[in-house]
Amino acid sequence: MSEGISQSDRPQEIEGDSGDLFSKFDSLIAMRENLLSGGVEDPFNLVMEKVISPTRAICNGRDTILLGTYNYMGMTFDPDVIEAGQQALADFGSGTTGSRVLNGTYQGHKECEEALKEFYGMDHAMVFSTGYQANLGIISTIAGKGDYVVLDIDSHASIWDGCKMGDAEIVPFKHNDIEAMEKRLRRIPEGAGKLVVLEGVYSMLGDIAPLAEMVKVAKSHGAMVLVDEAHSMGFIGEHGRGVAEAQGVMDDVDFVIGTFSKSVGTVGGFCVSNHPKFEIMRLVCRPYVFTASLPPSVVATAATSIRKLMQGSNKRAHLWENSKTLHGGLKALGFELGTDEPQSAIIAVIMPDLERGAAMWEALIKEGLYVNLARPPATPANMTLLRCSLCAEHSEEEVQTILGMFERAGKAVGII
Ligand SMILES: Cc1ncc(COP(=O)(O)O)c(C=O)c1O
Repeated sequence: MSEGISQSDRPQEIEGDSGDLFSKFDSLIAMRENLLSGGVEDPFNLVMEKVISPTRAICNGRDTILLGTYNYMGMTFDPDVIEAGQQALADFGSGTTGSRVLNGTYQGHKECEEALKEFYGMDHAMVFSTGYQANLGIISTIAGKGDYVVLDIDSHASIWDGCKMGDAEIVPFKHNDIEAMEKRLRRIPEGAGKLVVLEGVYSMLGDIAPLAEMVKVAKSHGAMVLVDEAHSMGFIGEHGRGVAEAQGVMDDVDFVIGTFSKSVGTVGGFCVSNHPKFEIMRLVCRPYVFTASLPPSVVATAATSIRKLMQGSNKRAHLWENSKTLHGGLKALGFELGTDEPQSAIIAVIMPDLERGAAMWEALIKEGLYVNLARPPATPANMTLLRCSLCAEHSEEEVQTILGMFERAGKAVGII
């Protein structure tokens, strides 16, 4: 803005001006207005006025079953977890006001890292303020100029953003395609550093990666392997370590990334590793260094929750039952699902288009059921999805109630 233009001149000057930096959002604004002009409830503006339990809340004034949270193991209201958080709040205050490398490492952060090391049976654990930052930090820091990152095209935004932030060459391959991955690895120049980035569970369709084969192929090409187990931690594998554990390749994975915002039931992220030089990451990883550490109450709840998840085999078994019942029930009703068999706690119901997806979402919320409406760019292949994520605290009766709600809503909207 040049000198001599008064504040009052500005709006006129900007109106209709291609210099308006917001003009790039016009098509999205129009799509949203078009969707809401029919009078449907806004699926992206839900307010929970009261949360009753991991599976129930008052949403937009209605008693609602929650089937669209990542609270897989139902730890958010665990009495031991709540008590640990309250005690830490009283003993250490509301926040650290500093970076982990300065004044932001309290006893609780170290205890949380100890709990993670025990949970995964790994030598090193580093806690970040979110899982997003863990991917951003680890990927951008370990893969530098001249290195290659080979990743699944359906990777989470935080993985892509980690690639964007670093200086490595980025080589995507078709989702879960072992041959395509190998082809990319073969083309990388001899001697270059290679990092293969995979996820245990892909969160949009709820499908798992063939990690046993993929990790083997990656290793045979001399690549290091990072697996994001955000959606499998606590649930999949004998000890809840994730898909790498379930498929017997834990020892060949160099870095596991995870989050506290799903099964752990709070907020935060982490990376665990057996790499002997891993601790240097604390000094060179910018999303770890240049941000404030998690509040004491959060790390205390996370550590307590992680330790309880080690003893979570009954909950894991019940969650598998819930997943099988919902998947089988929805399939029998005639819904199109993201996977042929239940592979995780996420069951994606494929909608014919955004309009009918939004109508179905609204019919369900009026029934008293909350699910996630997911659409591009978050979804693969331009799909509109109603994503259902189950919780170990959903009772058998609740899952049957959910199926009844889907049946009525699906018939009302004309999807089944
Ligand atoms: C695969 C995956 N990785 C990382 C994250 C980021 O986790 P956080 O919520 O802790 O930032 C998510 C969040 O949805 C995710 O789905």
